Amino acid sequence: MARVVLDDLTKRYVAGTVAVDKLNLDIADGEFVCLVGPSGCGKTTALRMIAGLEEISDGEVRINDRVVNNLQPRDRDIAMVFQSYALYPHMTVYDNMAFGLQLRKTPKEQIDKAVHEAARILDLERLLERRPGALSGGQRQRVALGRAIVREPAAFLMDEPLSNLDAKLRVQTRAEIARLHQRLTATMIYVTHDQVEAMTMGDRIAVINEGVLQQVGTPRELYEAPQNRFVAGFIGSPSMNFVAMTLDQKGGEPQLSGDGATVKLDDAQAAALRDRAGGSIMLGVRPEHLDVGSPDGPGLRLTATVDVIEFLGNDELIHAQSGDRDIVAIVDTDVNLKVGEEVVLRAEPRRLHMFDPESGLALART
Ligand SMILES: Nc1ncnc2c1ncn2[C@@H]1O[C@H](COP(=O)(O)OP(=O)(O)OP(=O)(O)O)[C@@H](O)[C@H]1O
Ligand SMILES: [Mg+2]
Repeated sequence: MARVVLDDLTKRYVAGTVAVDKLNLDIADGEFVCLVGPSGCGKTTALRMIAGLEEISDGEVRINDRVVNNLQPRDRDIAMVFQSYALYPHMTVYDNMAFGLQLRKTPKEQIDKAVHEAARILDLERLLERRPGALSGGQRQRVALGRAIVREPAAFLMDEPLSNLDAKLRVQTRAEIARLHQRLTATMIYVTHDQVEAMTMGDRIAVINEGVLQQVGTPRELYEAPQNRFVAGFIGSPSMNFVAMTLDQKGGEPQLSGDGATVKLDDAQAAALRDRAGGSIMLGVRPEHLDVGSPDGPGLRLTATVDVIEFLGNDELIHAQSGDRDIVAIVDTDVNLKVGEEVVLRAEPRRLHMFDPESGLALART
């Protein structure tokens, strides 16, 4: 059982880089939280500070209301699973899993029971006598998980545990970890740079950029209501399209216009943007929310020329040029677009995101 609270957690390396900048996060007991962000944004550093493997420059880590800043890793009741597995090559699978408990002088029968139970959960029973060199990547990763499970920690910390696996195995192991979380009901803090992994696994996701927390929320919240342009562009695949627009009046009606694009604003949007008249706005729209050939109505209308079509099976990924922008849309294969064709892409008002071009903060959502 562990509630993990990060309170203004900060890491400054000697070189002057701030790797983690006042990170605040309250992780409930039993929750699965993903820390996600681009390479170098401070994910591993944050996790290592929680684990006790990295000195904390400022702020606090609290586990169940106890400040653990100065506790040794072994006294924090947490287990960490690394990207590199870090298995002992000369030991069998059994001994790799048992080793931590043996060091703690846990009674032999108890170790045996824990190892077999973990092996059962992870489907490793037939492999207990093998050495890591004779295992596949996915099996090694399961052994690394098993080694964490036998300790029955209050919280699991995982740093990109799937990144060495091929795409298919990653999807499979992802589901295994989710299942494991349901079964163990332990707190899990999971680091990844892959937003799909974060979206599919996390109860909540914390998006970090350059050491700074951008937004925390459920996958749906981050997808539907990103608070800034960074989160909007990072969450969702392919990424959100951004189009620079200007707010003006047309026949008394407020509208946004840009190169080849217009937005008829609905009342709520017009009201939210009222005091930005004449100003510029960054419009965001996801590829899956762009449509070809729907009738005129409120929302976005954007003219573009198709230049690349990627066939995906059910749908097609369309790259189209609009002004000097590359717009990406996912459309039904039935639409039958051709390269070089001019298309009108449309999106409903509720699918539009608007950001301040300077600060990147979200403006109005309907
Ligand atoms: N020992 C160190 N000394 C100085 N700077 C460091 C040290 N370790 C990491 N950094 C810097 O701190 C920042 C955060 O690094 P960190 O490893 O936490 O990133 P990350 O989000 O885990 O990235 P990745 O996705 O590539 O693993 C980076 O800019 C990195 O260069
Ligand atoms: Mg890392």
